Amino acid sequence: MKTEIEFLRITPDNVNQHLPSLIACYRSVYSTEPWREWIFCPNCKRKWGEEDAGELCKNQFHCPDCRLLLSDFWASSKVGNDLLHEINYPHISFWIALSGNAVVGFTHGYGISPQNLESKLKLPGVAEAINKRFNFPELVIYQDELGVVKEFRGAKIARQLVLRRPNDFMASGLTCGIIRTMSDPPSVTFSWYTEKLNYYVIAEYHDKGKRVVLAQDLRDVARRLEV
Ligand SMILES: CC(C)(COP(=O)(O)OP(=O)(O)OC[C@H]1O[C@@H](n2cnc3c(N)ncnc32)[C@H](O)[C@@H]1OP(=O)(O)O)[C@@H](O)C(=O)NCCC(=O)NCCS
Ligand SMILES: [Zn+2]
Repeated sequence: MKTEIEFLRITPDNVNQHLPSLIACYRSVYSTEPWREWIFCPNCKRKWGEEDAGELCKNQFHCPDCRLLLSDFWASSKVGNDLLHEINYPHISFWIALSGNAVVGFTHGYGISPQNLESKLKLPGVAEAINKRFNFPELVIYQDELGVVKEFRGAKIARQLVLRRPNDFMASGLTCGIIRTMSDPPSVTFSWYTEKLNYYVIAEYHDKGKRVVLAQDLRDVARRLEV
């Protein structure tokens, strides 16, 4: 990719300026593989990715089972409201990648107590696993979102985004990093984080896609990213 990419920190002061493009980027990232969260049936909750557009056209975007009109999986208003809420989270580190004025990648993470993270992730045992491994930290960092639009992938944009996070977190004295991702088939994040950044599984969902919660000391992550 020849285009010049700029990396910018998002704060409560500049979030509105980039919000429409950030929302479009978010929706684009999650609408295709591996998540395929483009549209869904409000009744049976089945979801489809952009890859299925041709097939769905035949039913005029109605659920083949329920016959109901399909809705956006990530409605712009919901994504925008969530992002505006999250920018005020404690110890937030929020970065975007810009190609001109267009947001083509994003990442954010924030501080949260192990118990609140367990509730958020709806996975019993997460807090206990964190406490055991990190000796009862008051707060951990939940590395919530990471995405790069399809056309810009493979150009180390995610690496550049992720590289900017550990220093932000460590400046707050927080060193325990947690993420959640899909392990089967393994998402790029799963392979990257477990094979190169030394994250390891602390809890599993046993659902479709075998989502897992991964943890690692951010000081080690920073060292590995700086190589
Ligand atoms: C995951 C994602 C953000 C990676 O973005 P990217 O800009 O293409 O990634 P990079 O080029 O910076 O590569 C980052 C690392 O992943 C590795 N990687 C990238 N694509 C890969 C692939 N298809 N298979 C295996 N490893 C891959 C790279 O080798 C690199 O590691 P290295 O720098 O140590 O060599 C992007 O694929 C994406 O947005 N996916 C959909 C959303 C998603 O799954 N987000 C994570 C939710 S948990
Ligand atoms: Zn349905």
